[in-house]
Amino acid sequence: MSARRVLTDAILATMTPEGPPYGLIEGGAVAVTDGRIAWAGPAGDLPTAFRDAPLERLDGRLVTPGLIDCHTHLVFGGDRAREFEMRLEGASYEEVARAGGGIVSTVRATRAASDAALLASALARADRLIAGGATTVEIKSGYGLDVETELRMLRVARAVGDARALTVRATFLGAHAVPPEYRDRPDAYIDDVCLPALDAAAAEGLVDAVDGFCEGIAFSPDQIARVFGRAKALGLPVKLHAEQLSNLGGAALAARCGALSADHLEWLDADGVAAMAAAGTVAVLLPGAFYFLRETKLPPVAALREAGAPIAVATDCNPGSSPLTSLPLAMNMACTFFRLTPEEALAGVTRVAAQALGLGDRGVIAPGMRADLCVWDVAHPAELAYRIGDAPLAARWVKGAPC
Ligand code: NIG
Ligand code: FE
Repeated sequence: MSARRVLTDAILATMTPEGPPYGLIEGGAVAVTDGRIAWAGPAGDLPTAFRDAPLERLDGRLVTPGLIDCHTHLVFGGDRAREFEMRLEGASYEEVARAGGGIVSTVRATRAASDAALLASALARADRLIAGGATTVEIKSGYGLDVETELRMLRVARAVGDARALTVRATFLGAHAVPPEYRDRPDAYIDDVCLPALDAAAAEGLVDAVDGFCEGIAFSPDQIARVFGRAKALGLPVKLHAEQLSNLGGAALAARCGALSADHLEWLDADGVAAMAAAGTVAVLLPGAFYFLRETKLPPVAALREAGAPIAVATDCNPGSSPLTSLPLAMNMACTFFRLTPEEALAGVTRVAAQALGLGDRGVIAPGMRADLCVWDVAHPAELAYRIGDAPLAARWVKGAPC
């Protein structure tokens, strides 16, 4: 780890909420000490204490906080290309799921895969996210749906973080789907598998947060509430896949439970918006899934904005509804489909994504924050959302060191 370093001759998009759009500082510099940002501001104001520190000239390039993907399912076996063909021939996502395809087909492939195979394919996807500027990535379980495979998935998620210069936050998603052996017995699945798996995973230190899928093809609000109750007893924060395909009131339930985030939200109604805004629950928008499932119902972005609900953007990288491994492309889609501004999209993969993960030490360029930074070959931060999936990343700094 570098002791002291200064990046200078940069355009800084600090993403601090107060001040100019993007927290922009032209002709800026960032001073780093022991992996943390010690100072950021106009280069001419660099404190004398840093004037003899090793200097990195960026020739007018843009520096942003390292990008944060706050919702992925990066660990899984197999792929769902055939299902993609079926959907293009007219079958809906729900029809595929009810016919035994969908999430359950990935469960079969994940159970059959070795740990080494799961890690290798997850690392390949992590490397693509990294190439697009990711420095922190959340990874969910939820394709095991038995105690052992859920634990294996979470161990692989931790191994991804050990193998790369990347912070991984691991989320337990045992309530993702009802596996075939519990078909039509979702409550028994929660009691026999999901809660014991959560206890075991938490005991092994594998869980940073607990998620669920509240939907007609998955779990009811009552079933999710039971999982959240166990999370609370274990002292773990919660989040929820809610209002993706219908409105079961999942977002309001999540907000009542003090959830970090509710994610998807195409069917979110006014009560859900108000509940989320009041609780400070982050609205995580997943435009990759909206696009790939060819949805037409838009999440209520204007209402969320008006209510002051924080809005994040993520890839939802998964084999069934969003095989997407680029945060810049997710930003572009969030702007074109959901009408976020490019500034909101960048905040959604930095400052607000950090909030969605409960991480107070990153997401903005400010003193005391982790020195996770991206250097981009662009002249203005709007270019990151404007380009269609092109990620002109010049360098990535993690904890104060280029890597
Ligand atoms: O976030 N909505 C539920 N879970 C995933 C889809 C998983 C799958 O289809 O494999 C999602 O879209
Ligand atoms: Fe998801």
